[in-house]
Amino acid sequence: MEKETAKQRVEALKKELNQYNYEYHVLDKPSVSDYEYDVKMKELKDLEEEYPDLVTPDSPSQRVGGEPLDAFQKVQHNIPMLSLGNAFNEQDLRDFDRRVREGTDEKEISYVCELKIDGLAISLRYIDGIFERGATRGDGRTGEDITRNLKTVRSIPLRISEEQTIEVRGEAFMPVKSFRALNEAKEAESKDVFANPRNAAAGSLRQLDPKIAAQRNLDIFVYSVGEWEAGAIASHSERLAYLKQLGFKVNPETKTCENIDEVIEYIQYWTEHRPELSYEIDGIVIKVDQIAVQEELGFTAKSPRWAIAYKFPAEEAITTLREIELSVGRTGAVTPTAILDPVQLAGTTVQRASLHNEDLIREKDIRIGDTVVIKKAGDIIPEVVRVDVKRRSGHEEPFHMPTHCPECGSELVRLEEEVALRCINPNCPAHLREGLIHFVSRNAMNIDGLGEKVIKQLFEHDLVQTIADLYKLEREELLKLERMGERSVSNLLDAIETSRENSLERLLFGLGIRYVGSKAAQTLAEQFKHMDHLMHADLEDLIAIQDIGEKVADSIVRYFEKPQVKSLIQELKGLGLNMEYKGLTAEDIDTESPFSGKTVVLTGKLEQYSRSDAKKQIAALGGKVTTSVSKNTDILVAGEDAGSKYDKAQELGVTIWDEQQMIDALSE
Ligand code: IVH
Repeated sequence: MEKETAKQRVEALKKELNQYNYEYHVLDKPSVSDYEYDVKMKELKDLEEEYPDLVTPDSPSQRVGGEPLDAFQKVQHNIPMLSLGNAFNEQDLRDFDRRVREGTDEKEISYVCELKIDGLAISLRYIDGIFERGATRGDGRTGEDITRNLKTVRSIPLRISEEQTIEVRGEAFMPVKSFRALNEAKEAESKDVFANPRNAAAGSLRQLDPKIAAQRNLDIFVYSVGEWEAGAIASHSERLAYLKQLGFKVNPETKTCENIDEVIEYIQYWTEHRPELSYEIDGIVIKVDQIAVQEELGFTAKSPRWAIAYKFPAEEAITTLREIELSVGRTGAVTPTAILDPVQLAGTTVQRASLHNEDLIREKDIRIGDTVVIKKAGDIIPEVVRVDVKRRSGHEEPFHMPTHCPECGSELVRLEEEVALRCINPNCPAHLREGLIHFVSRNAMNIDGLGEKVIKQLFEHDLVQTIADLYKLEREELLKLERMGERSVSNLLDAIETSRENSLERLLFGLGIRYVGSKAAQTLAEQFKHMDHLMHADLEDLIAIQDIGEKVADSIVRYFEKPQVKSLIQELKGLGLNMEYKGLTAEDIDTESPFSGKTVVLTGKLEQYSRSDAKKQIAALGGKVTTSVSKNTDILVAGEDAGSKYDKAQELGVTIWDEQQMIDALSE
């Protein structure tokens, strides 16, 4: 074919294929068969192969292609991608409505209600109508460039119907059906499954190889406009209509409500009909429709005053409790877990629920064989809410805690003022195993590649019994274990090697001394600087330290008195483990920083920092991080989905920063 003819044909094919794609993935109304689509796509690909300079970024052949990336580039959001304040009940909604009315003279306020899709926020930028860049929200100001993965999402148009330069925002998600299929496939390959569709969508978009994202059947609903030069549309509902006209997928369940009562009705409707949707939602977003009123109301530090997210209460499910399983933890506490008939709950299959202790079982009168109502506490850990007593047949069996340890058989004891029963045999295999799991964990020695599964394997093969044994592991022994190839063994040995150099506080926390959490370990390491000094400290020395109480001090002294502890530390020294504090000392603390002398509270999800890193850095700059908001709090750093602490800080007039403000202050 002549080049000029080929060019015309390529243009026509691109147009047709993009249209078919739009009909199928956005309108859900295909006009051609898959076969016809595939034939045309093949023709396009063949022509593009013959004339590579005819390939353009909006060609449907460009949805997947290219080599995996090494890393994602950072992207600045010129208009920050904020999150929303939360409402949990009708009163919160009426309060929101009142605040809106008080903030404007406009009498006719209408609200747009949208489903709050449980996925991840995405920004899409079009230049002269062509999709140019897609990014994650990140911390709201800086996200990651995931253009190539987003191009694989068929409902994202590669070209829009007008030559607009516009940034739009929306929620990428994985439909429930695709999520289930993905997990089934993973299970069949004995791979880890995703906990819920949101994690699956996020995990897919974070893949460096776009071919993986392409297989994940992701989707998107667009819900707002970001940067936009030509923007002169006076209401949110009209903006949504315009986005639809440009070719974006806008959620069809969106509704404009004339007053807050209608909003509440919409919420009631969707609370009931939520299970019928093919994707997960976790609430309803309510936005003031008039843009002029939105502008008048403005923003707080982290969210608009003209919008709010109503969050659904935790979902509940009903199932049968088949058995109560007992497990022995690191401290010897024996905890009962309910084994349930598998049931779907908030997007995952639940088969176990924590029962905490015997008192709780008695209080709720939970019996084996009972029909129970379960929910996810904080939407994550399932727990038994109550028993449906009416459904009892009379064959249910009351449960009694055993008198002896299910792992080692020694007699269980109930320590003073404790509800838990404990196994106090220091050589109980469960103690040792759980102690090791704690030792390698992130806030302790942080040994990557040594998760719970591997520790259990090492135990089963008698390769380790104590912490010291970890540092004696040999390559050949590890290679014999199931699922341990050359590469994972090398990585594991490297991680163990690196951990020898950890600063003292990690080792101290990792030892699992009762009542010594990571914070106390930090204080002790800072004060004593060397393990030997701490080992020789007496009760008085310890109590003299601020933040170390009598109970903690007593536990430390008793721990280091034990001959087996003394020999363990000796052995660890011999194996080359660092025993010194390598962190900051009082002299290193910056007294001129924005945090100097300030009491700071962290709340909500931080995206760029782990809580512990943020705390450390704030402390290094002379700040003190506490957990609850009071009138002594100077700054509240509010991450995403901040809850009651945020409200309290607002009430008390405490300065509220978002994560970026904290980051800016840290780097000042
Ligand atoms: S509006 C400033 N609309 O919920 C406006 N958000 O906490 C911010 N979300 O980060 C977003 N569905 O990821 C908006 N229809 C919707 C939404 C929605 C889901 C997510 C979004 C945002 C979070 C709000």
